[in-house]
This record gives sequence, C-alpha cells and structure tokens, in this order.
Amino acid sequence: MGNQDLLARSLQAVWHPCTQMKSHETLPLVPIQRGEGVWLYDMDGKRYLDAVSSWWVNLFGHSNPRIKAAIKEQLDQLEHVILAGFTHEPVVQLSERLSVLTGLGHCFYASDGASAIEIALKMSFHYWRNTGHPDKTRFISLQNSYHGETLGALSVTDVALFKDTYAPLLRQSAQVRSPDWRLAERGESAEDYARRCANELEAYIAEHHHETAAFIVEPLVQCAAGMGMYHAIYLKCAREICDQYQVHLIADEIAVGFGRTGTMFACEQAGISPDFMCLSKGISGGYLPLSVTLTTEKIYQAFYHDDVSHGFLHSHSYTGNALACSAALATLDIFEQDQVLQKNLGKAAYLNNKMRALTDLPIQHLRSTGMILAFEVETDNMHFQKDFYQAALQRGLLLRPIGNTVYFMPPYVISEPELDWMVEQTQQLLAKITP
Ligand SMILES: Cc1ncc(COP(=O)(O)O)c(C=O)c1O
Repeated sequence: MGNQDLLARSLQAVWHPCTQMKSHETLPLVPIQRGEGVWLYDMDGKRYLDAVSSWWVNLFGHSNPRIKAAIKEQLDQLEHVILAGFTHEPVVQLSERLSVLTGLGHCFYASDGASAIEIALKMSFHYWRNTGHPDKTRFISLQNSYHGETLGALSVTDVALFKDTYAPLLRQSAQVRSPDWRLAERGESAEDYARRCANELEAYIAEHHHETAAFIVEPLVQCAAGMGMYHAIYLKCAREICDQYQVHLIADEIAVGFGRTGTMFACEQAGISPDFMCLSKGISGGYLPLSVTLTTEKIYQAFYHDDVSHGFLHSHSYTGNALACSAALATLDIFEQDQVLQKNLGKAAYLNNKMRALTDLPIQHLRSTGMILAFEVETDNMHFQKDFYQAALQRGLLLRPIGNTVYFMPPYVISEPELDWMVEQTQQLLAKITP
C-alpha cells in the first residue's frame, strides 16, 4: 500500500482527533509506517523528526528495544486480566514503585489522562461526602487550564475552543488567575507575579471553601495554554492555602510528569505533595494507553468501610492492563539505569543555549522548563499555526504550534546533532517570517 492509498482510506474511515475533518481538503494527512528513535517514516521513506513526542507521550524514542522487549515478554505471560477481584505482578510492582517515587500510597488506574482526572474529581467529591461534608461539590482550576476532553475534565478546562460548544453539558467550575509569567505586569518578576496570583487564590478559597472540594492545577507548565510556565512558589502557596481551608490539591502531571520539567515530577520543584496526582502520557514511555490517579492514605481510609457505597465503585475495562504496566516498568527501569534526569539537564541546557544564541528572529518570551522550550512568534499571519506546521513538515520536522507559540518537546533520546538539525530548520523557517 502506498502513501496516497492509505490517506484516502483514512479520510474515508477514520475520524481523526482534535480535527475539523474538512481542513484535510487542503491540509494533507501524514501517513506513518514506522518509527525509530526520534524519527517517524512514511511509506516512501520520507522521515520526520518527532519534536512533539507524538503528543507529549514518547520519552525514549520510537521502537525502543528495551520497552519493546518488556512488552513482548509480558505478552507471553498475560496480556490482560480483570482488575476487580484479581491482580497481577506488573500492576503490583508498578504501584509499589510509583508510591515510592511520589510518596502517595494508593494507585487507581485507567487508560487516558482525562479518565485519571475524572477519577480525581470523583474521589475528591466522594471523600468529602464520606467524611460528612456533602456541600463540598465544586472545583477550582486556573485560567487557560487544560485537563482533557471528557465532560468532567472539560468542566475544569478553560480553553474556549474546546469547551464553549459543550457548555450546556458541563458543571460550572471557577477559574482563578493563571500564574503564567507571560501575564505578569511589566517589571514584575515571575515570583512576584506568582505570589500575587496565590493571594487571589487565597481570597477566592477563603470565601468559597465550604462548597469547594478541590483545586486542580498543572504544576509548573500549562502546556496546552501554549507552554505557560510559572514560578514554583505558586504551588507552595497553593498547598498551604488548600491545607488551611481544607480543600484538596489535585496535581495534573499528565503532561509534565516523568521528567519533562527536569525533576521526575514537577511538584518536587515546589517541595510539595498533592492530595491527588494524575499521571499518564509518558508513564508507558509512549507505548500503550495507561493512566493512574495516586492518592494519600488519609483519603484511601475514608473509603474503607463495611458499606459498599462508601467505596469507590468507578471502573474501566482495561484498568491496570498488564502490557501497559510492563511498558511502564521498563520506562522506570530506563530512568534508573540511564541517569535520564541527569543527562536531560545537559540536553536542556544545550538546546536553550543554541536558541538563545540566535539573534534577529521575530520571537519573544523564549523560555524553558526542563525538556520543554517555547517562544511566541511575532507575526500577523492569521494562519500562522497551520502554515508553520505545514512548512516544518515539508522540511521533515514535526512541530505543532499552539496559536503563535512554537515549542520543542522532543523525546529524551534526542542527540546533539538532532537538536542542532531541529534548531537549524526552525531558524530557517523563522527567518522567512515577516513580522
Ligand atoms: C495537563 C493535561 N491533562 C490532561 C490531559 C488529557 O489527557 P488525554 O489526552 O490522555 O485524555 C492532557 C492532554 O494533553 C494534558 O496535557
């Protein structure tokens, strides 16, 4: 089968995500046959550098031999078993290792990020109900937050394009000022701005804590908001405020967990522990759908009861899938054996220095946190996002700008020559832009 044949059939049979399908009348789909390392290949051998880690999931490259081997080995043992009433070695091992890494002792599994968010929201609400606070039913999130597309997750998301159409289906939630430092006043430091935002959070929670179950936040980087980065002091203050007013803190580390911000989990940089942590994406190295919501002993105990309805009766068929857990275990092994976080420090600094050395480019707010680097492009081209995406693809570079924000979020296995090539292509693309 050739590229063209596959594209035609895909457009006929597959409804692609996050896509106005009519746009493919002019914007071609990209057929991919195989992947290796940071590269994706079509059927004619044309290759693309996956600078977005296939929607922020891939950590150690496509076709990684160690993750593949782990999945194959597990496949010969057990592919999947119902997790209600049954258990298996990979899910137990993974839970034990995640508990050590996060300090949160109880793991509830699902398959996608949005499902992990649903679980955290429901558990938080149910905890308060079980402990005699049935009025705590509401949630707070940040302006420009993104927590997924299912109805509960979308209710705490603040992206008009994804949310407004479904407004009649959603529960109301409150949004407080985002600490994203691009929104700071002129001359205001990132830290001062973060503290100002935390003061606003406190004012809101002081007034509404009786009805509030939880505050949900993307720690350090609001990725879908265009890589909005902020000072860790905000998280520290948020933790204190939530403690003071008895509101849960939900850390959505779905995009930023597993080393993306430089530490294994972003919360570590603020020295805080949330009441719930949601993980997905990089958890399986980008191999298989897996997500988990971790929580504390205190919350777990509030469900442990003779009354069945006090329990958390949520479920998904593929909960704790054995193949996905084996991929996750192999991913954790790579972190441990290869000193990944240490090596990423060098890669992140290398990329940062290269970008900062470029002058005369029509960009602003060049910023980075760990293995994420982003900047805004100054242009009045209304179609910048689509045009830049297409022009980069023609050069064999997969970038997906968010509005005018261009970002790099490559797999951690990217080499220095590959980083050089990625920056060179981007520089040449930017040089063609007239502000
Ligand atoms: C911070 C955050 N939360 C939740 C999600 C939703 O995850 P999923 O797409 O796996 O449902 C995403 C996806 O990009 C995300 O970035």
